[in-house]
Amino acid sequence: MEKIQKGTVKNIEKIAKDTFKIEIQSNVKNAFAGQFISILCPPKTLRRPFSIRGYKDGVIEVFFKLKGEGTNYIKSLKIGDNIDFLGPLGQGFRVENKRVLLVGAGIGIAPVLFLKDELNKKNVQSFLISGFKDDDEVIEGSDKTVVGGSVVDYLPELIEKFKPDVICSCGPHIVLKLISELAQKYNIEAQVAMEKVFACQIGVCRGCVIQIQKDGKVQNATICHDGPVFLGSEVVWN
Ligand SMILES: Cc1cc2nc3c(=O)[nH]c(=O)nc-3n(C[C@H](O)[C@H](O)[C@H](O)COP(=O)(O)OP(=O)(O)OC[C@H]3O[C@@H](n4cnc5c(N)ncnc54)[C@H](O)[C@@H]3O)c2cc1C
Ligand code: FES
Repeated sequence: MEKIQKGTVKNIEKIAKDTFKIEIQSNVKNAFAGQFISILCPPKTLRRPFSIRGYKDGVIEVFFKLKGEGTNYIKSLKIGDNIDFLGPLGQGFRVENKRVLLVGAGIGIAPVLFLKDELNKKNVQSFLISGFKDDDEVIEGSDKTVVGGSVVDYLPELIEKFKPDVICSCGPHIVLKLISELAQKYNIEAQVAMEKVFACQIGVCRGCVIQIQKDGKVQNATICHDGPVFLGSEVVWN
């Protein structure tokens, strides 16, 4: 069983329309971009998963967008309040000294911003493009921000200019599918951080299974435990 972590709210602030940043002081020793934490949001019994936006000295940063009871519970927390979570969970992005094109759609910008920080520390070249529906939803921190249109439309030109070895992305299913197709066309690796509604969060309930193709065989994989980051070329897209 994954260890339950007890943390306290260090800071909570609004960063865009219906979108907040929370910093959690914890005893967590390390975290990597693409991993997530799963927060208990009473009276809900099923924890809510959130990508890790940043990590430093035990402080875990998360961006969350208001959806329902769980995210409204997190918004109601005050500095110093206790917070109960699992994690860091899951497999993150794996990029070693590659030129990385980062793509974040909507709140999906959170894990790619974390990856950008990690790459900057290692002096690895990256370029981050993000897309949002409206001006008031924009989360800062990208090299290029697209408002209103599809972020995918800007990728062919960026690929030609930036010549990435790998594209790392997070966002809605359809965006990840289109990015994977584009990456295959340009013969570039794609890593996609996938999402589904989670129940157990630890690979047991099988509620978040997708199909992946490996060595010519189609097999099941759980997003929460085997992912959330997968190679775009391995995912059986539907
Ligand atoms: C691996 C992973 C990483 C995530 N990272 C983030 C993040 O960094 N920031 C963030 O704001 N959200 C993130 N999410 C989504 C987040 O978990 C949901 O928005 C949250 O659980 C909603 O909880 P709620 O109780 O407020 O809403 P609920 O009352 O549970 O749901 C409200 C509405 O949101 C829909 N919904 C719930 N969960 C999801 C989901 N996973 N995907 C799409 N729709 C959903 C429901 O179907 C319903 O329509 C992530 C999800 C996963 C699986
Ligand atoms: S949520 Fe239970 S296996 Fe992934």
